[in-house]
Amino acid sequence: MAPMSNRTLALTPDLRDYLLAHSAPEPQVLADLRAETALLPGANMQIAPEQGAFMALMARLTGARRCLEVGTYTGYSAIAVALSLPRDGRVHACDIDEEALAVARRHAERAGVHGRLAFHPGDAVATLDRLLGEGARETFDMMFIDADKTGYAGYWERGLGLIRPGGLILVDNVLWSGHVIDASVQDADTRALRAFNEMVREDDRVEAVMLPLADGLTVARKK
Ligand SMILES: C[S@@+](CC[C@H](N)C(=O)[O-])C[C@H]1O[C@@H](n2cnc3c(N)ncnc32)[C@H](O)[C@@H]1O
Repeated sequence: MAPMSNRTLALTPDLRDYLLAHSAPEPQVLADLRAETALLPGANMQIAPEQGAFMALMARLTGARRCLEVGTYTGYSAIAVALSLPRDGRVHACDIDEEALAVARRHAERAGVHGRLAFHPGDAVATLDRLLGEGARETFDMMFIDADKTGYAGYWERGLGLIRPGGLILVDNVLWSGHVIDASVQDADTRALRAFNEMVREDDRVEAVMLPLADGLTVARKK
């Protein structure tokens, strides 16, 4: 049978298992964090393991040292990236949920990367504004946006100030379980994501690609 290589394949659960079984294995500390987070009410907020592996590879490929994360929760994405940074690398991890950050801190210690994580509890807008005010403009190599969806546009704008030219901004949930194309869904988060995706498409400060990874991941390079 001729393969269909001219469009993206929709993954069945079995095919996704195959994909996971044939990618870089999930580090044990991240598997343990996934198991612990699964018991929490917000467990479905955690990124998928294949996305963590991809983000770690992006960090390594780009030689990232300074990373910024908006929306850390229990730490999966932050630790996945931190594991691929050099010893003096840092992930500045922002979240308003201090209980979730305590879980992240504990697993970062277990992973041996606590020295590569700087936690910023509180509203991420205030944290990003503080970093901008402290002279961190254009000092970050990579940023991940994964917090409140109605806040994405504000994080994006501040992120473009903080990321160096040639640096990456990754944005999660841009397909939002497919709701972005379902006109019957009109809640605030879905509308914000639609507007955000339009905004990125029109933003000539970046080259951006939307990937069908997990819930949709935009990868944007600042020009
Ligand atoms: C989807 S989760 C992040 C998942 C995380 N990246 C991971 O890999 O597990 C979104 C997080 O954004 C946080 N958040 C929501 N609004 C925020 C805000 N204004 N400032 C900082 N964090 C916020 C929430 O507390 C939540 O932990």
